[in-house]
Amino acid sequence: MVRLQDIQNNEDIKALIEGANKNLEVLGYTEHGLRHVTRVSETASRILRELGYPNRLVELAAIAGMMHDIGNCINRKNHGIAGANLLFPILLKMKMPMEDIVCVLSAIGSHEEQYGSPVNEVSAALIIADKIDAHRTRLRKNIAYDPKNIHNRVNYSIKKNWLVIDKERMNLRYEMIMDMNLSCPMDFLEIYSTRMRMCEDAANFLNCSFELVINDFILNRPNYRR
Ligand SMILES: [Fe+2]
Ligand SMILES: [Fe+2]
Repeated sequence: MVRLQDIQNNEDIKALIEGANKNLEVLGYTEHGLRHVTRVSETASRILRELGYPNRLVELAAIAGMMHDIGNCINRKNHGIAGANLLFPILLKMKMPMEDIVCVLSAIGSHEEQYGSPVNEVSAALIIADKIDAHRTRLRKNIAYDPKNIHNRVNYSIKKNWLVIDKERMNLRYEMIMDMNLSCPMDFLEIYSTRMRMCEDAANFLNCSFELVINDFILNRPNYRR
């Protein structure tokens, strides 16, 4: 059985994560390296664990989270599909069971907002975990903060964020503390509204609702099923 640790220790996968992050740095994107993928891996697996899914699915979500952005080492465009294609021979060589490979590749190939939608439980958890990683630590330390750049502004304004998984209410609540001197919910929605809608769909796939809360204010209708 391939474990999360095997993925984290695999030299090829490590190099792909690093290469993807370097390309995105050149293109001016926020951090997509080990910090981002580790956080996505932890959140995706936590969602399935706390909702009571089987351990193997929990681990597959952690595995998919670690590798979901490696396609960026080919191109930003279609990086979900590229990443899934890249991983197929690697996971085969690691002797991951074909059923698990299919699950992980489906999730990675369906995580992008331009063409992705939840196709299985791991995919739904990955989408939510990925799209809610907006935080000031995503700004690159070696690039000067530019308040005119909306991505810089929004990410830098988010001092704290967290996800409350309420199994009783079957609700996932994404909360953040935003510094209103730096940005505002309107800025956030300008770049994140499609991603937040995708989170609503992904939460619905897990039979949950999704709430977006900025500075204690609920911005969407949690029970709204699209
Ligand atoms: Fe991505
Ligand atoms: Fe990502």
